[in-house]
Amino acid sequence: MKTRLIGALVTISAIILFVFSVPLVSFVSKVERERLVTALERDAFGLAGHAKETLNTVAGATLPSLQPFVNEYVRSNDTRAIVTNADGLIIASSDTTSSIGSDYSNRPEVSNALDGTPSVGERVSVTLGQRLVFVAVPVQIGDTVVGVVRLSKPKSVVDKEVRSRILGIVVAGGFTILAAAGVAIPLALGIARPITRLTRRTERLAEGDFTVRADDSDGPPEVRELSRSFNAMASRLGLMIENQRHFAGAVSHQLRTPLTALRLRLEQAQESVEDDSSPLAIALDASRTEADRLQEMVEQLLALARIEGGTAPTVTVNAAEIVRARADMWEPLAAEKNVTVRVLAAPSVDCAVIEGGLEQIVDNYIDNALTVAPAGSEIVVEVQRVGTNVVVDVVDHGPGLTEEQRALAFERFWRGKNTENAAGTGLGLAIVRQLAAASGGTVELLARADGASGACARVSLLAR
Ligand SMILES: Nc1ncnc2c1ncn2[C@@H]1O[C@H](COP(=O)(O)OP(=O)(O)OP(=O)(O)O)[C@@H](O)[C@H]1O
Ligand SMILES: [Mg+2]
Repeated sequence: MKTRLIGALVTISAIILFVFSVPLVSFVSKVERERLVTALERDAFGLAGHAKETLNTVAGATLPSLQPFVNEYVRSNDTRAIVTNADGLIIASSDTTSSIGSDYSNRPEVSNALDGTPSVGERVSVTLGQRLVFVAVPVQIGDTVVGVVRLSKPKSVVDKEVRSRILGIVVAGGFTILAAAGVAIPLALGIARPITRLTRRTERLAEGDFTVRADDSDGPPEVRELSRSFNAMASRLGLMIENQRHFAGAVSHQLRTPLTALRLRLEQAQESVEDDSSPLAIALDASRTEADRLQEMVEQLLALARIEGGTAPTVTVNAAEIVRARADMWEPLAAEKNVTVRVLAAPSVDCAVIEGGLEQIVDNYIDNALTVAPAGSEIVVEVQRVGTNVVVDVVDHGPGLTEEQRALAFERFWRGKNTENAAGTGLGLAIVRQLAAASGGTVELLARADGASGACARVSLLAR
């Protein structure tokens, strides 16, 4: 998140910079070019003023006073200068390629200036073999043109000067990007760090830790506000869940006594009825079955409330030993249904689980498997070590569950259509899930690995 935020801020700065720089660079290069030409023009007129005096006194003559002046001007300006008389013959020149007396009247800019028109432009110089930027101005006394001053620079020199200006802008742009990164990094860290911390806390809350709180004194105001809302939500949720658990526990507990009394009375009533096949005896028998169911449900709810409320420590147990003992316990009941329970286990598989947790989990899984197992079938309970986990699978040959049912089966009170008529409360798997979670493990219902009809109820616990 941090790097993404920094990247976004720097990219935005770079885009803004680029969008503004492109027109700025083209504008600056145009202005700089014009400035150089204007400076050349100004110098040409200055030189023309100086030349005027020379050409005025002795028209057409080569005067020593103009040459040093031209030399002096050129030395400081990286510019070529020539001065012609009214016939276009050079009377002063800054370099040797244009010797005194040469006829320059055929040069377009010189001939224009001789006609009285100053000109500014660019052309290829045959003499020098390069492009020139030139300014040619007439030297006038009144309306009479007495000579021409032409200043020129190689275009490469002008381009170089323009480039150095643009380089200045690019360097400034580079510094701007660095400055943007300098601002973006602490800014991004300031926003990202508290949000990352808050995300971790939210994950803990989602895992059921309602004691978790966010630090609302850190980060930008919006994040602090978010942290405060998070804290308010976490404490409210914690309170609600706590109340709910307490309520479920209290109600179950309160129901226990009258339910036991009800069962006793029903038993007594049953004993006092002599004819077992009388409608009264049948009704009493059905009532007792319902009362038993109700009592089982209350016991299960109480068990659930106890697991959810408590934070029991885990103990190390040998899963294989527990599974074998539970399978033995279920054997007679299974035999009644003509079902066999087979255990496949490594000799010693230690895992972490809350006290009595694995026994209850295995009991619930075998109970469910027996409810749906067809006569003559086999229930296999397999204990394996898988990576850092100990996995216990209870595999049956019943109808199995659809994907949708598998997702619902661990919810409280959910019961499948095929077991609706069998005894049960729909709380068994909810208890299994809580026991596994309290032990740091997980549960799932799977299809059989061999593709046959049936279910595979699995619990994964941390190996020890
Ligand atoms: N091995 C299985 N094969 C097919 N369906 C199953 C299996 N195990 C559980 N189920 C379905 O999941 C439902 C919920 O199971 P759960 O153990 O929570 O409740 P129950 O067995 O109906 O009642 P209780 O366990 O509280 O006596 C069952 O009613 C059944 O429909
Ligand atoms: Mg069950």
